[in-house]
Amino acid sequence: MSNFALLFCFAFSTLSSSCTVLKKRNDKPIIGVLAQEVDSPQPQKASYIAASYVKFLESAGARVVPVMINQTLEEYKTLFNSINGILYPGGDASIVSSGYANTARIFYKLAIEANLRGDYFPVWGTCLGFEELTYLTSGKQLLSQTNTSGVALPLVFTNASRESKLFKGFPAEVLDALASEPITENSHELSLTLESYNSNADLRKFYNVLTLNSDGKTEFVSTMEAYGFPIYGTQWHPEKNAFEWTRPYIPHSPSAVKTTFFMADFMVNEARKNFHKFEDEEVEKRALIYNYNPAYTGNKSAFEQIYYF
Ligand SMILES: *[C@@H]1O[C@H](CO)[C@@H](O)[C@H](O)[C@H]1NC(C)=O
Ligand SMILES: *[C@@H]1O[C@H](CO)[C@@H](O)[C@H](O)[C@H]1NC(C)=O
Ligand SMILES: *[C@@H]1O[C@H](CO)[C@@H](O)[C@H](O)[C@H]1NC(C)=O
Ligand SMILES: *[C@@H]1O[C@H](CO)[C@@H](O)[C@H](O)[C@H]1NC(C)=O
Repeated sequence: MSNFALLFCFAFSTLSSSCTVLKKRNDKPIIGVLAQEVDSPQPQKASYIAASYVKFLESAGARVVPVMINQTLEEYKTLFNSINGILYPGGDASIVSSGYANTARIFYKLAIEANLRGDYFPVWGTCLGFEELTYLTSGKQLLSQTNTSGVALPLVFTNASRESKLFKGFPAEVLDALASEPITENSHELSLTLESYNSNADLRKFYNVLTLNSDGKTEFVSTMEAYGFPIYGTQWHPEKNAFEWTRPYIPHSPSAVKTTFFMADFMVNEARKNFHKFEDEEVEKRALIYNYNPAYTGNKSAFEQIYYF
């Protein structure tokens, strides 16, 4: 569809100067956010989504639908063809065997197939989602223990980051802040070390490393994007700066909050390039996150608000 629009635009651009109005963009993007198992299930609390991921996407002009775990393949295919991108959040689920892992695998496969036929479908992984992407791409558990639970760090940009899809459009002041101020919050015990990345051909071929970080001993990959696909991962948490307050090490400075916005803006712009839609407006309404109310959990969890399903 987008290819067609581009061709159309090209063919007419010699005849008319109104080419830009013919360019297609989806200004009503809807992004799926993947749910995951709760640590200790209770009635009405089998799975959850931390509300900060929802606010993150909403802040840049997207609407959100929860992607529930344990659905059928047919249901996932229908949902895939209804939404414009997907975000795999952080958390504690297994990246190998869990509802989270199973659903992430299905959407990853659908996204790869769609992108190969020219149906642009972005996938974003944050923290556990980043780790899940390394597993889905390599088929291997390649993560190592690092001392990175609860620390904000400045990013160490690689040379490749300058021409990256992700950071290319960032304002210089935000890039400068990211490189010099500790405004990327890390809450992970496992990491993809630079050494593991370098020694795995599947990861090396697939992902461009955009930033690195270190726990003082071990260098690890903190931001990556796929070369040929709109697939992105951050080991750190862009959504927390603006929306989570429960931990003292979450940065809230002006540049930290701008980071939240520009990361979200990038992902939402990627989703604006996708033209999937729901069967009709009623089905769309029933799927939206607005049908659920988040609980205030800031006094007893790492998240201010959580959607339970
Ligand atoms: C998902 O399925 C697993 C295995 O059948 C089950 O243990 C779990 O409770 C289910 N979780 C949800 C949220 O449906
Ligand atoms: C882990 O890192 C923190 C700083 O983020 C440091 O205070 C602590 O000593 C480190 N622990 C180990 C075991 O290296
Ligand atoms: C990055 O670019 C700089 C300047 O162009 C160069 O000096 C440096 O060797 C490059 N680093 C790597 C790792 O390629
Ligand atoms: C947390 O706040 C909610 C809403 O005010 C309240 O219902 C709950 O009892 C509080 N929990 C704790 C552990 O303080």
